[in-house]
Amino acid sequence: MELSCCGKRQKPEVKSLAVTGAQWGDEGKGKIVDYLASRAHVVARFQGGNNAGHTVMIGSETFKMHHLPVGLLYPGVVCILGNGMVINPPVLVEELEGIQSRGWDTSELYISDRAHVILPFHLVLDQMEEKYRADKKIGTTGLGIGPAYADKACRRGLRMIDLVKPERFKAWLEEALPLQNNYLQQVYGHPGISLSDILNRFLPLGEQLSSRVTDTSLMLNGYLKEGYRVLFEGSQGGFLDLDHGTYPYVTSSSTTAGGACSGLGIGPHMIREILGVIKAYTTRVGEGPFPTEELGETGERMRHKGAEYGTTTGRPRRCGWFDAVMGRYSARLNGYTGWAVTKLDVLSGLEKIKIATAYYSNGNKTEHFPSLLEDIYRCEPIYEELPGWEMDIQGVQSPDQLPIEARQYLKAIEDLTGVAIDVVSTGPEREQVIVMRGELF
Ligand code: GDP
Ligand code: IMO
Ligand code: MG
Repeated sequence: MELSCCGKRQKPEVKSLAVTGAQWGDEGKGKIVDYLASRAHVVARFQGGNNAGHTVMIGSETFKMHHLPVGLLYPGVVCILGNGMVINPPVLVEELEGIQSRGWDTSELYISDRAHVILPFHLVLDQMEEKYRADKKIGTTGLGIGPAYADKACRRGLRMIDLVKPERFKAWLEEALPLQNNYLQQVYGHPGISLSDILNRFLPLGEQLSSRVTDTSLMLNGYLKEGYRVLFEGSQGGFLDLDHGTYPYVTSSSTTAGGACSGLGIGPHMIREILGVIKAYTTRVGEGPFPTEELGETGERMRHKGAEYGTTTGRPRRCGWFDAVMGRYSARLNGYTGWAVTKLDVLSGLEKIKIATAYYSNGNKTEHFPSLLEDIYRCEPIYEELPGWEMDIQGVQSPDQLPIEARQYLKAIEDLTGVAIDVVSTGPEREQVIVMRGELF
């Protein structure tokens, strides 16, 4: 039977690529998105807020992007802050002004009208809750991320569309603030936050940002259907995902590729390829379990050589060996079509390199990441040892120039995770990249 026109299946030829972190964040997503963004028309962030810290090095200049998509560093690229994000207006404006003062054009940055707003009481709550948790603290960035997402889930949050309408914002705050202050005062003995202080600070910011606030889902779907190349820039990483990470030591958003759909208002078929960014070793900042963590000299060496200090908080990152159990789990959660392996250069000079292939958990060998927190703390990694290499590989741009041991190491990552490597990063700078399988998108 002939179907009527509107009943026909339509499969748009979209050119899009989601880039997400496969570990506990700081995998080098900024570097990889920046490398790819030279070919992009649109770069869109879909979750998180200014807890993200994405570093980009262009020549002698270093940029640390917190709210802003890395694509902003290419003239003419349209950048979107999606509805799945939480936005701290004063911080966003400061970041925008910082970039502008360095000569960059920010006129193509758009903010979803449905993105939620981080307000001063969210920061206070985040910090108070952490203090209250004492030795069970999560080690959050203290930037109000969790409380802002909690208010969103409790259906009492403020959205960007409400912020830019002064009367609406004022009415919302008059209703919401007494409740928030009551909680801060009763539970934490905090004096509370003044309504006029918030209004005086945020009303002008709303006005300043209003021309950028729009229905970004509408925009983005238009670009995708017209065949423009779109990058979805993830922040944090799979093991910080609210559902799939090492709960409760996670962030409060969906960091995996599926988050791009709900966090941008696009259908799943609008994501064509999914690139997992994974460090050649593992790091974590904040508390929580870390099976392959190296507390001694090896970890210290990785931290020192890899300059592993938080981009947002400056905290030293915990370091350890590459964990293929984590790699497989992340590949499953995200449906990765390829890897971008970063910081391979940091491993140069090691005699032996270890990879965790499985864990011993409760006396049994398992190849899967456990869900019970205590099991993650207690599990023991089973390691395979590979030969290291002496040669300094920083800046190498062709696989043939890598020592055989480095190639063996990359092959082991592919074999153990079941995902092929598309890109290898050999240094922090834009061009320090090896393309393994041709252009990505
Ligand atoms: P993101 O949050 O995933 O974007 O990662 P961060 O920017 O927080 O941390 C990654 C750090 O490693 C940054 O300082 C980058 O400049 C740096 N980096 C990225 N790729 C490489 C690489 O291949 N080699 C080296 N040595 N540094 C890298
Ligand atoms: P990028 O995008 C690394 C961690 C915090 C803490 C936990 C919860 O740069 O990879 P939050 O403030 O989000 O409630 O903190 O998540 N965390 C990150 N770790 N990189 C990040 O972002 C992170 N964003 C949050 O350290 O353990
Ligand atoms: Mg980071």
